[in-house]
Amino acid sequence: MRCFLAILALSMTLCLSCSRGQPKRGPASPSLRLAVVTDLKGYLEPCGCTSDPLGGIDRLAAQIRTLREGPVPVVLLIAGDTFFDAAELEPVRVDQASRNAKTLAGILNGLEVTAVLPGRRDRAQPAATLEVLQEASEFPWLAMTSDADVLRTEAGALRLSIVGARPGSERDAVAAALGSVQAQSDLTIALVDGSRRDANRIGAIDGVDFVVQGGLDEDDLVPPHQAGNAWIFHASRQGQGLTVVDVYRTDKGGPFADRSEWSRAEAAVQLDRQISDLSAKITGWEKSGEVDAADLEAQRSRLAGLKSDRQALDAPAASANGNSLFARWIPLSNGVPRDKQVGKLMREHDKVVNEANRLAFANLRPPPLGPDDIAYVGSAACAGCHTTASWWWRNHAHGVAYLTLQQRNKEYNLDCVGCHVTGYNQPGGSTVTHNLNRALVNVGCESCHGPGAAHAKDPEKVGIVRDTPESMCLVCHTPEHSDLFDYDAYRKTLVVPGHGLPPMKR
Ligand code: HEC
Ligand code: HEC
Ligand code: HEC
Ligand code: HEC
Repeated sequence: MRCFLAILALSMTLCLSCSRGQPKRGPASPSLRLAVVTDLKGYLEPCGCTSDPLGGIDRLAAQIRTLREGPVPVVLLIAGDTFFDAAELEPVRVDQASRNAKTLAGILNGLEVTAVLPGRRDRAQPAATLEVLQEASEFPWLAMTSDADVLRTEAGALRLSIVGARPGSERDAVAAALGSVQAQSDLTIALVDGSRRDANRIGAIDGVDFVVQGGLDEDDLVPPHQAGNAWIFHASRQGQGLTVVDVYRTDKGGPFADRSEWSRAEAAVQLDRQISDLSAKITGWEKSGEVDAADLEAQRSRLAGLKSDRQALDAPAASANGNSLFARWIPLSNGVPRDKQVGKLMREHDKVVNEANRLAFANLRPPPLGPDDIAYVGSAACAGCHTTASWWWRNHAHGVAYLTLQQRNKEYNLDCVGCHVTGYNQPGGSTVTHNLNRALVNVGCESCHGPGAAHAKDPEKVGIVRDTPESMCLVCHTPEHSDLFDYDAYRKTLVVPGHGLPPMKR
């Protein structure tokens, strides 16, 4: 009966708000929309190797443009490593990475970025590189020369203070920078590059409403969570997705209540897990009778606390009268539209990089053969004797892996070529430009059977690796580039009549 009444009461509140023609709870239109990007790491787009590649700065651009078409002011904030994904670039990569960063800065200019807090890897680049990039950026880079910078700006009716905290800077330094300006702002947002603890520390500063957290590097998306009165937002890495936060700010100050399902659902999962773990433990302790009564009581009351926290999550979200927010994450997956103009810039960029690398590395040779090394010859040299295997291979994905890159103007791209050719950087193998007049393009026979010049010359005397151990596949089939890789399942598809099995009789 109680339950029935509760449902009735709930449906009445819902109906009351429906009748006003407004969303289920809260004011109709947000005062502000935050678009949050974290740990972009210079990614213009995903490599395209995996089953469901996420990301693409053209997709991000399309989202931002759509957000900006609405009446709600949009503030685009970026935190964490934005332009570079390594602190110390290998010398051969410096040019490509710098070009990449510059293209990215240009595209971000078009998105009217409000502020960027560059991460530790960005900051580790040579001063000259950073200077050029900063000059090319039409948006502020925060906390480059001090522990904390405050950017004051307005969005709609709200006065914002956006504070960037230099990685590793002390909480006090950030609080001091905010000091006097906070009284004159309606919303304070901190940009951080660091661990979760760092973000929590900054979030706990009095008056900070939101923290945009970069610096989580390998972590997947982290849902919004609270530290002190502040909400901490993250948006995944490498431009895989965008976090959008609708901010409903009333005249009253005070903390924000989260009305989005996202973080509540996540919090519920965690609490459920804690409750079931603790319940099981308590049952065990009760049975064993070895635990002190006072300790047991303390644990029971902890459990009660968890249960009441859990119930609070299910209660209708905080009242519509106070400040509230609604956060969602938009994965930039295949189905998401792309911005055509930005796409064009990306394609031009690919061409420029390809051509620049082709010329710059024209004389790059692989390491020389050591006394015990065997040279690579290329798949064509195997075809004369292993006819059926060659037919099979030419139509297999491995046999067209280079074409995959050529079609995208990426065959000279240092981020790509290594796994789409044979014997990359191996003694007597290939480099980004050097491929024995194309003999070593594609993932050839020798990618799996090892360098074969000696065997091809005298197969009666010199053998070659027959079966490929998993470790060889894993050189290219890394989790980042081959998310579905399973050695047995993948290998099975290679061993077919004519290659590893007797050819079919006609
Ligand atoms: C001149 C002919 C010839 C050429 C060229 C040649 N092979 Fe062979 N290959 C043979 C013969 C003969 C055998 C041994 C007989 C057999 O089992 O088929 C063999 C065996 C193999 C085996 C099985 C090894 C084993 O231990 O069972 C593999 C794998 C192989 N070759 C790969 C290659 C690759 C890769 C190339 C090119 C780099 C190549 N071969 C070039 C003639 C050739
Ligand atoms: C030198 C790098 C490299 C090595 C070594 C390598 N692969 Fe691949 N593999 C690739 C690339 C690149 C592709 C995708 C080519 C394309 O479509 O452009 C691929 C594609 C495949 C596919 C096709 C997947 C599909 O969805 O169609 C299979 C299966 C596969 N590899 C299995 C293996 C196995 C098993 C091994 C080890 C025995 C191996 N590969 C070793 C680079 C490699
Ligand atoms: C570490 C090795 C590695 C690197 C680096 C790499 N790839 Fe791949 N790529 C692979 C493998 C392995 C596959 C096959 C994955 C699978 O099917 O499981 C693949 C598949 C692909 C495919 C899908 C082909 C198809 O027909 O479905 C595309 C496109 C591709 N890669 C493009 C790129 C581009 C562009 C880059 C550079 C930005 C790149 N790759 C860098 C290993 C790599
Ligand atoms: C992606 C990895 C891969 C590539 C590329 C590849 N092979 Fe193989 N090959 C294998 C595996 C795995 C086997 C099965 C080994 C076994 O059954 O012991 C095999 C078996 C063979 C055998 C032994 C056949 C038999 O029945 O004796 C020959 C010969 C061979 N491959 C030749 C080639 C040639 C030639 C090419 C290039 C045209 C090639 N392979 C490309 C992985 C590869």
